[in-house]
Amino acid sequence: MKNIILGVTGSVAAYKAADIANNLTKKGYNVEVIMTGSAREFITPLTFQSLTKNKVYYDMFEEITPKDIKHISLARKADLCLIAPASANIIGKLANGIADDMLSTVVMAMNNVPVYICPAMNTNMYINPIVQRNIKTLTEFGYHFIEPRESVLACGDLGTGALADVDKIVNTVEAHQWRA
Ligand SMILES: Cc1cc2nc3c(=O)[nH]c(=O)nc-3n(C[C@H](O)[C@H](O)[C@H](O)COP(=O)(O)O)c2cc1C
Repeated sequence: MKNIILGVTGSVAAYKAADIANNLTKKGYNVEVIMTGSAREFITPLTFQSLTKNKVYYDMFEEITPKDIKHISLARKADLCLIAPASANIIGKLANGIADDMLSTVVMAMNNVPVYICPAMNTNMYINPIVQRNIKTLTEFGYHFIEPRESVLACGDLGTGALADVDKIVNTVEAHQWRA
């Protein structure tokens, strides 16, 4: 069974991550969800726990298993990492080597794990040259992006920044060429 880390960050689109977690679990993946503090303002860990049947992680310092440093063991056993929705903030942190919460630290601790990032944000945030530079940096380091759609966004603006369709995200994970 493949282990997928699903990172969820602080966006209105966080509710769609529940669908992603549900679809991937039903397709036979072991999905371990890591939420940022902001993500928990939008959706509760209980939703993901109920759908994935796994504990949801968000507090790096809650070391419940003394024999195990959780951010390292999660990173080590991951076959793939999907961040959906990915905020401008997490993209900026990953592009700049910041590891100040469970999600950014687990991703930092991964070695040769494919990472798929699904940005979701207001259009002006998405086209901000700093965000675009961060996306370019991560792309150059081998991170994959599943591009946002154009839509009427939660803020009322029409533009690019809506999370890619759940089906597209799930299909992209399924189409991943796993290492032998
Ligand atoms: C109602 C609301 C919606 C938001 N939606 C987004 C969003 O879609 N994308 C984004 O990058 N930030 C969004 N933000 C701002 C982020 O939550 C904020 O930058 C936060 O620091 C991100 O933290 P995280 O990356 O640790 O989850 C939103 C904030 C609020 C209050």
